[in-house]
Amino acid sequence: MGKVTLGAKTLLYPMTMTIIGANINNRPNYLAAGWCTIIEHAPAMFLFSTTRTRYTVQGILENQTFSVNIPTSKMAKLTDYVGIYSGRNVDKSHLFTNFYGKLATAPMIEECPVNMECKLVQTVKFGTEHELFLGEIIETYANENCLTNNLPDAKKIDPLLITPKDNHYWTINDIVGKAWSIGKEL
Ligand SMILES: Cc1cc2nc3c(=O)[nH]c(=O)nc-3n(C[C@H](O)[C@H](O)[C@H](O)COP(=O)(O)O)c2cc1C
Repeated sequence: MGKVTLGAKTLLYPMTMTIIGANINNRPNYLAAGWCTIIEHAPAMFLFSTTRTRYTVQGILENQTFSVNIPTSKMAKLTDYVGIYSGRNVDKSHLFTNFYGKLATAPMIEECPVNMECKLVQTVKFGTEHELFLGEIIETYANENCLTNNLPDAKKIDPLLITPKDNHYWTINDIVGKAWSIGKEL
């Protein structure tokens, strides 16, 4: 079969990079998060894995709100920057054009083509330091020029992807077919 064992690896290839935003003492702060997913459509639910040591988490707990911003592949360096340096030591509030939506306390990034603002619903501790943060998406904002027929167009959004373990950032490539549909062609 030509397979080799690699041990217990987390090879979910690729994952979508997000930038999570929260206000801390009324100042926006952002962290890069790749360990995240959507878990439900209605109500719309977003989940990411984090730890209490993140400065952003302090703001999420303070306001019970956070934002999810989808960076483009051209924002790779900025995304990496907010993933390396903590708001405890550097001011990350000026890196982007900040805007607020319905929740008023979840800062969002104008330069990201898609933004979601979330209400914190639940946190779940696991392992020694990790914690899942579950948010209900209250509103979504998308750049008009990233829509095709009123739907978000992944090619126009140009999301930043990551492959964990080799730690490479990627861009999206091509459509291979329609989900929930091409399987019926077999
Ligand atoms: C590629 C990449 C992915 C990351 N994914 C996560 C993640 O999913 N969850 C998390 O809590 N931190 C993640 N981090 C680390 C945080 O972004 C990083 O610790 C950040 O500096 C925290 O900022 P803060 O202390 O200002 O909140 C990631 C960093 C990088 C570079």
